Amino acid sequence: MSFLKSPLWLGLICIVNWRHVPAQCQLLTPQTDTFASSASISASQAAQAGINASLANNIAIALNFERSNFANGSVASEDFYTVPKNAPGAAPGTLLKLQLDANTSAYTLPPNTALSRFMFQSETLNGTAVPVSAYILWPYLPRNQSDGYPVLAWSHGNSGPGSAECAPSHYRNLLYQFATIFELALQGYVVVAPDYAGLGVTKDASGNRIVYDYLGSPSHANDLFYAVEAAQTAFSSFSKQFVVMGHSEGGGGAWAAAQRQLQKPVAGYLGAISGSPITNTLNLVDLAGVSAAPQVAIGIANTLAGLYPGFKYSDILTPAGIALQTLLSEIQGCGSTVLELFAGAGPGLVQPAWTQNFYAQSYQNLTVVGGKPFAGPMLILQGTADAAVAEPVTSAAVQETCQKYPDSQLEYLTFAGVDHVPVMFASQRLWLDWIAARFVGEEAPKGCQTTNYSSVRAYEYYQKEQIWFVEFATAGYETA
Ligand SMILES: *[C@@H]1O[C@H](CO)[C@@H](O)[C@H](O)[C@H]1NC(C)=O
Ligand SMILES: *[C@@H]1O[C@H](CO)[C@@H](O)[C@H](O)[C@H]1NC(C)=O
Ligand SMILES: *[C@@H]1O[C@H](CO)[C@@H](O)[C@H](O)[C@H]1NC(C)=O
Ligand SMILES: *[C@@H]1O[C@H](CO)[C@@H](O)[C@H](O)[C@H]1NC(C)=O
Ligand SMILES: *[C@@H]1O[C@H](CO)[C@@H](O)[C@H](O)[C@H]1NC(C)=O
Ligand SMILES: *[C@@H]1O[C@H](CO)[C@@H](O)[C@H](O)[C@H]1NC(C)=O
Ligand SMILES: *[C@@H]1O[C@H](CO)[C@@H](O)[C@H](O)[C@H]1NC(C)=O
Repeated sequence: MSFLKSPLWLGLICIVNWRHVPAQCQLLTPQTDTFASSASISASQAAQAGINASLANNIAIALNFERSNFANGSVASEDFYTVPKNAPGAAPGTLLKLQLDANTSAYTLPPNTALSRFMFQSETLNGTAVPVSAYILWPYLPRNQSDGYPVLAWSHGNSGPGSAECAPSHYRNLLYQFATIFELALQGYVVVAPDYAGLGVTKDASGNRIVYDYLGSPSHANDLFYAVEAAQTAFSSFSKQFVVMGHSEGGGGAWAAAQRQLQKPVAGYLGAISGSPITNTLNLVDLAGVSAAPQVAIGIANTLAGLYPGFKYSDILTPAGIALQTLLSEIQGCGSTVLELFAGAGPGLVQPAWTQNFYAQSYQNLTVVGGKPFAGPMLILQGTADAAVAEPVTSAAVQETCQKYPDSQLEYLTFAGVDHVPVMFASQRLWLDWIAARFVGEEAPKGCQTTNYSSVRAYEYYQKEQIWFVEFATAGYETA
């Protein structure tokens, strides 16, 4: 049963009035009834994908979990994601469409936050103007420490290797929930968050495919700046000043934004926070081993196929890898689905030495961040036990940057024992202080600084991972 049909409202009435109107209380239903999707992987799909019935079952369960967490169905069924007629020819940064008030009852947001969604013109890696969707998460009371409501441009992490459905703006929890965006809104920032070119909106007004630049940091940086510009057009109450921040794929986006700012300055930019960043994708794959390789290779293959006419999937994927890529594209799987899809995946999905492939290397050269000059200040956060973005790769990018550009305003913070997304929890008070300091005009430290943090108690006793999820309560008792 979906939330919209659920007895939550009645449940709340029951809490208030149970002594008086117990007869109005409906029978309680188990919480998992909110998983309102019933997709399955057919036997022939499984056979074509080369997976057994157990894996097909697991993928279908993950897919249904994922789809039931869409706020209002597929992006294909929401008018919001259709491109308006004024889009072709609009300059990057143009506001194309505004949904002033999204119905928050479809989302699992913290109390006293609100949501707008908008579409704006952005620019892909190769300079093509494309429409992109985005959301704004509103605080109840914006901070009053700037020339308007302080703007935080958020760059999300990998939401899946390139399906329309992987757009955070149509997920109930907007995908990063309390790790970053909910906290930011609760702390009084207006969070402006692009879905990225090619996610959500996958075709332009003429029906041409919009390529999603997977792990394409400079492309995400374009999305950040142009989303801020469009949001400031939509709301004159917004500050001209803004901080950019991202994690993982979005950490690369934020770092690329700092690099872009030096080449193409945008007024109001105050600095960047880059959490667990993707810097050099192929080094990460080569150093971190095979576990993430198939997912990364499939995501990159989808992008390369859109960017380079000469590229063939078989250049970097084996027939088994292509079979899984085909299934993933058929079912439009995103983060949850991908986790299960690759859970049992071996190294046989990618061509040996695929990271040496010409197209993969060309794309890498276009997208790598680090070792380049940037507009400071930048704060970089990295856990030493990050299973997705290996700490030595981030440290190497920091070191190369600081050796070549010792006058960079770069603060590098490491957190002993801490994993990928959890680093945003471990460092939360530091990045919140850092953002607040930028908005009040405090000068960040000069030069490159590294600080290695460790936990105040023995780390083995800490909660290391996110072992819960945000879901609708179907009855009042669940909110206790
Ligand atoms: C939001 O959607 C729900 C369910 O469709 C509806 O009952 C409610 O009135 C809507 N809220 C607003 C503010 O439109
Ligand atoms: C969901 O989408 C349908 C159809 O597009 C629309 O009528 C409805 O109002 C939407 N509901 C919410 C809660 O946004
Ligand atoms: C950029 O890539 C798109 C395909 O994504 C292609 O249609 C377009 O011609 C390319 N533009 C340039 C300037 O290379
Ligand atoms: C917000 O800040 C401005 C400028 O510092 C000040 O004039 C105004 O009174 C403040 N508003 C509130 C509600 O604190
Ligand atoms: C199904 O395939 C997965 C992934 O290859 C494997 O881990 C699992 O053991 C297989 N299960 C059965 C029942 O063969
Ligand atoms: C990528 O960049 C490196 C270093 O500049 C260069 O040696 C290499 O030829 C480039 N590869 C491609 C495919 O562009
Ligand atoms: C931080 O830790 C790294 C790796 O252990 C070490 O190389 C570096 O010197 C440390 N830096 C500081 C400032 O403690």
